Amino acid sequence: MTDHNPALENLLTETRAFAPSEEFAAAANAKEDLYAHAESDRLEFWAEQARQYLTWDTPFTEVLDFSGAPTARWFADGRLNAAYNAVDRHVEAGNGDRVAILFEGEPGDTRTLTYADLQREVSKAANALDALGVKTGDRVAIYLPMIPEAVIAMLACARIGAAHSVVFGGFSAEALYSRIIDADATAVITADGGYRRGKPSTLKPAVDDALAKGETNVKHVLVVRRTEQDVAWTEGRDVWWHDALGEASEEHTPVAVEAEHPLFILYTSGTTGKPKGILHTTGGYLTQAAYTHWNVFDLKPETDIYWCSADVGWVTGHSYITYGPLINGATQVMYEGTPDTPHQGRWWEIVEKYGVTILYTAPTAIRTCMKWGEEIPGKFDLSSLRVLGSVGEPINPEAWMWYRRVIGGDKAPIVDTWWQTETGAIMISPLPGVTATKPGSAQVPLPGISVSIWDDAGEAVGPGGGGYLVLDEPWPSMLRGIWGDEQRFKDTYWSRFPGTYFAGDGAKYDEDGDVWLLGRVDDVMNISGHRLSTTEIESALVSHEWVAEAAVVGASDDTTGQAVVAFVILRGEAQEKADEVGEGEDVVAALRNHVASEIGPIAKPRSILVVAELPKTRSGKIMRRLLRDVAENRQVGDVTTLADSSVMDPISSGMKGAS
Ligand code: WTA
Repeated sequence: MTDHNPALENLLTETRAFAPSEEFAAAANAKEDLYAHAESDRLEFWAEQARQYLTWDTPFTEVLDFSGAPTARWFADGRLNAAYNAVDRHVEAGNGDRVAILFEGEPGDTRTLTYADLQREVSKAANALDALGVKTGDRVAIYLPMIPEAVIAMLACARIGAAHSVVFGGFSAEALYSRIIDADATAVITADGGYRRGKPSTLKPAVDDALAKGETNVKHVLVVRRTEQDVAWTEGRDVWWHDALGEASEEHTPVAVEAEHPLFILYTSGTTGKPKGILHTTGGYLTQAAYTHWNVFDLKPETDIYWCSADVGWVTGHSYITYGPLINGATQVMYEGTPDTPHQGRWWEIVEKYGVTILYTAPTAIRTCMKWGEEIPGKFDLSSLRVLGSVGEPINPEAWMWYRRVIGGDKAPIVDTWWQTETGAIMISPLPGVTATKPGSAQVPLPGISVSIWDDAGEAVGPGGGGYLVLDEPWPSMLRGIWGDEQRFKDTYWSRFPGTYFAGDGAKYDEDGDVWLLGRVDDVMNISGHRLSTTEIESALVSHEWVAEAAVVGASDDTTGQAVVAFVILRGEAQEKADEVGEGEDVVAALRNHVASEIGPIAKPRSILVVAELPKTRSGKIMRRLLRDVAENRQVGDVTTLADSSVMDPISSGMKGAS
């Protein structure tokens, strides 16, 4: 990265800052002194957190052993059980009647599970797995919709010391098969189906297809009945969940495992090649999941109603639905369906209905709601919300401000949380009672976390400098490897800067020393020797009143190395205005000029294509690789990980028409 980077300076002109109210700050779980406390003795700090947030069967005496770097061992001589920590100890402490899960099905059916209910269900499920021959150390694939059984199944695995491998319900049979094979799973937990977009969608047939693709070691498939659709049945292999749990005892003794015992494998949807099975273990992962959940969301377990809108098929669902919140004794909402079923106000209706106080969601969802118009959330009482979280991609200042004003009533602090499947838990985020938040910046490493930004040569840059985000000290919830592929683990994360974890993200410090994430480094473009971030240009486009969403890619260009190509979705009301202005050409010209005036002529997109949809993965990430194929007039690559693979056709033909 060059030192002088005019293109990025635009991001750094953000001067708005929102300090927490005095009242919020005074009552906050995390105060300013947490930073100094962590800094005084980082390892001792983590040992304290591990004791504070978790109950250990055998207390640990060792904190960190990094002699086997890059694989760390945290709290390695301690023993504990994740499900006991998430469930039983709350019941033992007299909180069995506290609601753990407020479930809202997409069709409107509801269920309430207390911690005592969870203890019974998880124990029965653990006994059922045991009866089916699943053992400590085995792997179990979980392929379920967003229903309480997803959490129960994960905890039942953890209770017997089997690692779960949750596969997002939107993935295909092929993806499920490759994950079953890679992890060598011996059982699958699924459902007949789930509700999405107003109708039942199926899951069991994909499991049947997956298991028919080749030899696996799966002995049993446990099937939850959710939609009551007809399902094909393989006698001897398939077992109804309700039958297995119906016969099972409500008593089960959790298996105390070593702190470094595998808790789960989670495959990341790699953009190339075979998916990576990210391995997380027990003690360190749970410590950081609980610690971050407590401090970043300022959880008050007696009074808060927490809602994380992620799916348990993603790491956000693992750390901030299943493990963090339950370890902290939270009451949380779990919603099965899509935000626009049966109407575009469904989320806000849920916030009003349950009095949600903490909401954790993704920028893509926020921008979608912006596109639908603020009058929709405006119809609901959102005044209960007191903390808002964002995760998954950089949140552009425009969306951040909208989130704050329209959803947060101009008062709820926004915590923009940077982390990855690999980091296991939040790494960079404001603390809501301490940090004066800035629109678009994740700002500061959490107490106990060490982050640095390095240039090409591996030299740390200072305020105003940009480069590669690295994590230069081990952290408790760090991945312990890529399942079955130690070399790939080393090559992917530890070779760019030997011995230091390279996250794959570009980042920049502003003059205050706050961190701005600039997207994956493969999304950073080089235009005439100037580095430009796709994120920054997208942010500029979205700041135009006509634009709802934008995706920018760097397409190779003979003259400038790379050129900026943008794909934009116009806002509903803007489309009309745009039509008034005249032909599409004028819209494009106006937007190009807007980018030029926001950032500089260098950032002007070579071409802008107005589209109706953008290609997104099922987790909502824009697949820029496909847009780059279009921009470079190539055959569009593999579209199988798209939520809707048909969106590429109109984009490709639109591009041909434009060029
Ligand atoms: C990106 C999701 C900017 C980043 C928890 C990272 C973010 C990747 C943020 C990990 C954020 C996540 N600001 N970028 N607040 N959060 N990212 O593994 O590029 O699905 O490397 O984990 O998402 O995505 P993953």
